[in-house]
Amino acid sequence: MISKWLDERLELQKFKDKFLTKTFPTHPSFLFGEIALFSFITLVITGIFLGFLYEPSIGKVSLFGAMVPAAYASVVRIDLLPMGIIIRRIHHWSAMIMIASIIAHLARVYFTSAYRKPREINWLIGLGLLGITLGAAFTGYLLPYSQFSVTATSIAYYITESVPWIGDWLARLIFAGEFPAHATVPRFFFLHVMLIPVLLLSLIGLHLLILVKQKHTEPGANRNRKEAQAGRRLIGIPVWPEQNYISVSLFLFLMFVVVLMATYIPLNPIELYGPPSPEATVMRPDWYFLPIYGFLKLIPGDLSFTIAGGKISPEAIGGVFFPGFLVMLLAAIPFLDRPKEPQNYIENPLHRPFMTSLGIAGATLLFMTTLSGYIDVFHIAPSAMAIYVIVAIAAAWVISYLLLRIYSRSGKKGEHVKN
Ligand code: HEM
Repeated sequence: MISKWLDERLELQKFKDKFLTKTFPTHPSFLFGEIALFSFITLVITGIFLGFLYEPSIGKVSLFGAMVPAAYASVVRIDLLPMGIIIRRIHHWSAMIMIASIIAHLARVYFTSAYRKPREINWLIGLGLLGITLGAAFTGYLLPYSQFSVTATSIAYYITESVPWIGDWLARLIFAGEFPAHATVPRFFFLHVMLIPVLLLSLIGLHLLILVKQKHTEPGANRNRKEAQAGRRLIGIPVWPEQNYISVSLFLFLMFVVVLMATYIPLNPIELYGPPSPEATVMRPDWYFLPIYGFLKLIPGDLSFTIAGGKISPEAIGGVFFPGFLVMLLAAIPFLDRPKEPQNYIENPLHRPFMTSLGIAGATLLFMTTLSGYIDVFHIAPSAMAIYVIVAIAAAWVISYLLLRIYSRSGKKGEHVKN
């Protein structure tokens, strides 16, 4: 009755025939993108709750007899509400899961060569999504305005300032003055709750629209199935109802895991860190910023020179050129590894020795620079650690390349494809 009423006005049946009959591949690695999407939805919902209670100001207010920044006090008060701390932790855990699933999704696309023609645009949009999501995490860091927030953000401030030629201007634009300025928290609040979510929403929409237009890639083994031989482009299950059951179950399962984690695993306990104080504290950023933090530790403090009036400092090398180089390399991949014909079947990573070993070397680089963030704990000198990093990357690359070459030559191509 209601569906008939709606259909007469909105032509829902047409929409259903056009979009809900689309096919979705059945391989579970295709679900990482969905996990990222569901985490984003959770972030928006919990963020709306937090937005009603958070105060974006560092003006001093009284909290349990002490004068502390209003932003800090408002977050402590959220933690004291029934369910308040759980919702704040769900927000933070969802951010972590979103970043982890984006990285897993990127790795899936990379290792199976799903970035190749015609999907280069979605690969680039995806890289933008990763960058903006990291931007969301970075701006969110500062908002509780605890000692941890301020220490972490000041590292980012020095890195931004160190960008050659435009550093001062860029730092003033992002941090609304010299950090910690009065306007920094309102500026980060605007970026975190307004500009970044709008950008994410628009880019995710574009990413999915392009996906619907181009269709998914599909497992290589499907080439031999009779539907493919009869000319059907994509073999899998329809979005409605089968894929919908899987997606809803995945969403509910994700919620279950996140609520469980939020209940039992404390995260960013600002009451423990306290409000900002002049005492210097050693704090490590969350895991996804550790490669940059670790890389910075490996660069000799006196390594500094000038090019065309722009100062290249250790902060610029570690915090700007290192991530910039990785992003440019990733962006270039679909243009370097390009087939003549559009490719709609994914490749078995075990049969791509060069690209797979390059990916393994990249993962080793991230792992080793993450470890470098702990050299003070392991009591390793930066110069020794730099050698370990180089040796580990070279060993991972060469050994994995040789093993994969032997493997892929040992059998006829295609026989091992089990996708
Ligand atoms: C907010 C972050 C992101 C969301 C919500 C998202 C969502 C999705 C979803 C739901 C799919 C379809 C399922 C799948 O193929 O796994 C997809 C496909 C795709 N994504 Fe993403 N994605 C994100 C970030 C990225 C990143 C970082 C990259 C790579 C740099 C990327 C590149 C691609 C490509 C090339 C496809 C098509 C893959 C194929 O057809 O096999 N995406 N994305």
